[in-house]
Amino acid sequence: MKDDMRAYLDAPVSRLGTDCEKWDRLERHFGRGDLIAMWVADMDFRTVPEVTQAIIRRAEHGIFGYTDDGEASREAEAGWLKRRHGLTVDQSWMLYSPGVVDSLFFCVEALTVPGDGVLVQPPVYGPFYEAVRLFGRKLVRNPLVRGADGWHMDFDDLEAKLSQGVKLMLLCSPHNPVGRVWRREELQKVVDLTRRYGVILVSDEIHADFALGERPQVRVLSLQDADRCVMLTSATKSFNLAGLRQSSIIAPDAELREKLAGALKRAHASSPNIFGSIAQTAAYRHGDAWMDAVVEYVRENRDYVVNALGEALPQIGCRPQEGTYLMWLDFTGLGMGHEAVKDMLINRARVAMNDGLFFGEEGRGWFRMNLATPRANVTGTVEHLIDAIRSR
Ligand SMILES: Cc1ncc(COP(=O)(O)O)c(C=O)c1O
Repeated sequence: MKDDMRAYLDAPVSRLGTDCEKWDRLERHFGRGDLIAMWVADMDFRTVPEVTQAIIRRAEHGIFGYTDDGEASREAEAGWLKRRHGLTVDQSWMLYSPGVVDSLFFCVEALTVPGDGVLVQPPVYGPFYEAVRLFGRKLVRNPLVRGADGWHMDFDDLEAKLSQGVKLMLLCSPHNPVGRVWRREELQKVVDLTRRYGVILVSDEIHADFALGERPQVRVLSLQDADRCVMLTSATKSFNLAGLRQSSIIAPDAELREKLAGALKRAHASSPNIFGSIAQTAAYRHGDAWMDAVVEYVRENRDYVVNALGEALPQIGCRPQEGTYLMWLDFTGLGMGHEAVKDMLINRARVAMNDGLFFGEEGRGWFRMNLATPRANVTGTVEHLIDAIRSR
C-alpha cells in the first residue's frame, strides 16, 4: 500500500455530531458514551475522493427533484462486476432497491407465500430472521458447523431441509458473522441442491469485495445453472456509503424479476436517492485503488488482532476471517456467561461490539468486532481487552 493511502486510512476522522449510529448513539445502545465503537458494520474511513467530489458537483446544481435509477449507475456496477469479479451481467437484470435488508424483505414477500419455509444458516445477520418472521413464513434453520479448521455448511442437513417444503434459501456470501468466503465447490453444491428441490436461492453478497485472502469470492451468478438465483449487491458496504441508501437486486430470471419489481412498486421503493446513484457510479468507476488499499488495511488489522489476542488472551477464540471486515470472537472460553461478558466489554474494557445473540441463539457467548477503522482503535481495543480480562 502506498504511504499516502496508509496515512489517509490511519488518520482519525471524528464522526461525532454527524448523527452516525456507531459513535453518536453509543449511550443509547450501550448505556455509556465513552467506548471505542467497534460495532455497526460501516467504516471509519472517508470514501473514495471522486465520490465526494461527484456529490458536491451534483449538490451545486441545487434542484433535487424525482429521479430515475440512472443508466450510468447500472453501467458502472456492471463494469465493476466484470472487472473485479469476472462476472458478466445484463443491465436489464438489475433492479434498484434502497438497501440489501430491504431486498431481503422484498424477496421473501414477493417469492414466497405465508407458511412457506425459508432457510437460513445460523449464526447469521439478524435481519435474515426478521425477513422470515415479518411476513409470517416458516423459519428453517441449517446451522453452520464449526470444525477445527473453521466453519462449514452441513450439506446433509441442508439437503434434508430443502427437500421438506422450503421455497427460498437466504445465503450470506461472504458470511456475516463467521467470515467465510465460500469456495466455488461449496456454492455450486448449494446451487445444485436448491435447483434439485425447486428452491429459489437468494444470495446476499454485500461483503463480496472484502475477500481478504488470495481466493476471490465466487459470485453466485457465475456458477452453473444459477439462472433462478437472485444476487443482492451494494456499493454501500464496499465504499462506506450506507447512509445514502442504494443497492441492486440482480435477477436473470424474468418471472422472478417481475415479482420483485412488483414488491418494490407496492412499497413505493423503486425511486432512488439522487446522491446514492451518483455515489455508486463514481465509486464503481474510480474506486479500484481505494478498495485495494482498504482490503489490505483490514487484512493487516485482522492479522494484528489474531496475533495479539492469540499471544495475550488465548482463551478468546479468534480465527482470521476469510472475508468481511467483521471478526467473530468466541468468549465462551472465559466461562463467564453471556451477560457477564457483555458487562465486562462495556463497563471494564470500554469497547462496543455487536452482541452475538443478534445473530441467533448460536451467538451466545460470542461478540462481533468491526475492523474497518484506523489502527489506533484496533490496538486500543486489544489493550483494553487485555487489561479488563487480566484484572478480572
Ligand atoms: C449480510 C448483510 N446484509 C445486509 C446488510 C445491510 O445492508 P443495507 O444497509 O443495504 O440494508 C449488512 C450490514 O451489515 C450485512 O452485513
